[in-house]
Amino acid sequence: MKTFDMIVKGGNVVTASDTFKADIGIKDGKISEMGLDLGKDAEEIVDASDKYVFPGGIDPHTHMNMPFGGTFSSDDFKTGTIAAACGGTTSIVDFSIQAKGKSLKQTINTWREKSDGKAVIDYGIHIALTELNEKVMNEIPEVIKQGYQSFKMYMTYDGMRVDDGTLLRTLIKVNESGGLCCVHAENYYVIEYLKNKFLSEGKIEPIYHALSRPDLAEGEAAGRAIKLAKIANAPLYIVHNSCEASISEIAKAREEGYPIMGETCPQYLLLSEDNYREPNFNGAKYVMSPPLRDKKNWPVVWKAIKDNTLQVVATDHCPFFMSQKELGKDCFASIPNGAPGIEARMALMYTYGVTSGKIDLNRFVQVTSTNAAKIYGMYPQKGTIAIGSDADLVVFDPNIETTLTKSMLHENVDYTPYEGFKLKGYPTVTISRGNIIARDGQFVGEEGRGKFIKRTSPQII
Ligand code: URP
Ligand code: ZN
Repeated sequence: MKTFDMIVKGGNVVTASDTFKADIGIKDGKISEMGLDLGKDAEEIVDASDKYVFPGGIDPHTHMNMPFGGTFSSDDFKTGTIAAACGGTTSIVDFSIQAKGKSLKQTINTWREKSDGKAVIDYGIHIALTELNEKVMNEIPEVIKQGYQSFKMYMTYDGMRVDDGTLLRTLIKVNESGGLCCVHAENYYVIEYLKNKFLSEGKIEPIYHALSRPDLAEGEAAGRAIKLAKIANAPLYIVHNSCEASISEIAKAREEGYPIMGETCPQYLLLSEDNYREPNFNGAKYVMSPPLRDKKNWPVVWKAIKDNTLQVVATDHCPFFMSQKELGKDCFASIPNGAPGIEARMALMYTYGVTSGKIDLNRFVQVTSTNAAKIYGMYPQKGTIAIGSDADLVVFDPNIETTLTKSMLHENVDYTPYEGFKLKGYPTVTISRGNIIARDGQFVGEEGRGKFIKRTSPQII
């Protein structure tokens, strides 16, 4: 019997706090030893010399097979997690959407049917709460104990949004029960007014998606949600911040000492409102909410990632084929909201964050992995490289130079919003619980091997 199942040898190991040269010994899916030279007594040796070894990426904002606007996002738990694995991500947290009239138990069961036996990486599940009644209220402590510790509420979208009273009561109940609330912050009434105005003027093109959802509508909703969290005396996590208007609200609350946290996504750092003006309905590729913003927001968002105003870079991966986007050919408001991004996240953040000097290597690890693990109750099982942690690792070659193009990606969709983006650095080996699941951008793992992650209490960071 060999000492180790696998040794990842000679890499530069990077965690949230340290960078050091070490071999990583893996046994039974866990990291069992680390040292300068662990020898070669292993079933498998992964050569990581001249490469970084990062904790596997964690993307806590995905939408697999999500119903939206009369269709479903095109990646399911199999295709979406294969894409994630190829891009260096070893865990996701996906949003189970509470359909009207359904209990939380039914909501969870629907998502477990979508995910169990299909995902190739480990997965947690958030609850997107759309309806709060007595029964649902009573289920909250129960489902938190079962490992569903995070609840998102939409402040916009007909059919999914909750009112301020529901938001407040949920903030109080979830916090009392040891969980964490999240919000999608956009002001519903502003959007309704502007959308109807543009449509009545015959303005139907994708650019009007962005113009009907101004940054101030996001900032107003973020500020309101923060105030409700203060009143509830509860922590709050604001998803996909796109602009200064919402980030300044988080910054102010954090300066005052309130437990407000937030994420952004690569699209708000690298793409802009200008993309909506691409000809031939190409602008529909970028229809997502919140929308892409004026480029002047980019430095503000980068700064917020660097200075910990925002703790996480997720993707909001929610792909639709162009044929699905065409549901809104004659009306921007009918274009399904969402875009792909799960596979390129790690490489984009390394190239445009680390190599450009905007964030350092340890901050890269914090925002792509460790902080999501801490906030969403997976740490230190996930999100770090430490003895006893799951052996979820990504060997990353900083010298690979390539250009992103749809054909190299595994997302089940016919475009990438990052087509033509230059990359410096790419994952070469992805390891999940001690198994190599992707090598040189190709999936080599077993189908359906992913396990549900039973998550525990949130850490406020
Ligand atoms: O455009 C987006 N973000 N689509 C997914 C639905 C949501 O807003 O979470
Ligand atoms: Zn989302």
